[in-house]
Amino acid sequence: MRKLIAGNWKMNGSLAANEALLDALAAGMGQPACDVVVCVPAPYFSQISAVRRANTAYAAIHLGAQDVSEHEQGAFTGEVSAAMLREFGVRYCLVGHSERRQYHAESDEAVARKAQRALAAGITPIVCVGESLAEREAGHTNEVVRRQLAAVIHTNGHCISEIVVAYEPVWAIGTGKTASPEQAQAVHAVLRAQLQAASAQANRVPIVYGGSMNAGNAAALLGQADIDGGLVGGASLKAADFLSIIANSRTECA
Ligand code: 13P
Repeated sequence: MRKLIAGNWKMNGSLAANEALLDALAAGMGQPACDVVVCVPAPYFSQISAVRRANTAYAAIHLGAQDVSEHEQGAFTGEVSAAMLREFGVRYCLVGHSERRQYHAESDEAVARKAQRALAAGITPIVCVGESLAEREAGHTNEVVRRQLAAVIHTNGHCISEIVVAYEPVWAIGTGKTASPEQAQAVHAVLRAQLQAASAQANRVPIVYGGSMNAGNAAALLGQADIDGGLVGGASLKAADFLSIIANSRTECA
């Protein structure tokens, strides 16, 4: 399967910094062997979509959002709807990132409804799942990620082959601690089996890994049989690092 490398800029960037980063990515990327996405803060959608329209060199960089409302429209102050994302050319949207689950108390069911809104608007949801350190140490990793994904499968049924799944162990996010390729592969295999049980088309669902992925460890992670790409935080803000990860997407499966 064609790999997917998505950068999650989180709450970073400025008009000037975004332009410099995108220029460097477009200049260094050539024809990538993978799909490339940047998930940017909502105020910058119009900047990025204008840059993409103006110059075909940016066409291979797809626009992603970091969150979407679970509601369609109305009195939900501060929320952004899936239809609004679509108007700005957003193709992918993170849902259920652990920082949203943790700081904004997003439940599994709310995450499932967000995925549903994205799908209804023609946007691919990147559904994030992952266990905390305490959950891993207690031996509950598989149970936690299966519960998180089950809610999305339950709500989205026949559309499930249209999603992307991101396995992001919470203890590996922004900590410099990466899951080993074997640890990540083991969880990806669990998620793959769960998707296969839900849909005959599940083999086309990319399952990407996130959590301190960088230029040095990307090749080993991306070489695992069930790791179909990366969701990259800190390293996606540095053009050279992100480009190196994109180049590593050529890695053949072990
Ligand atoms: P880091 O790559 O900075 O650990 O962040 C991972 C992440 O949360 C991507 O969504």
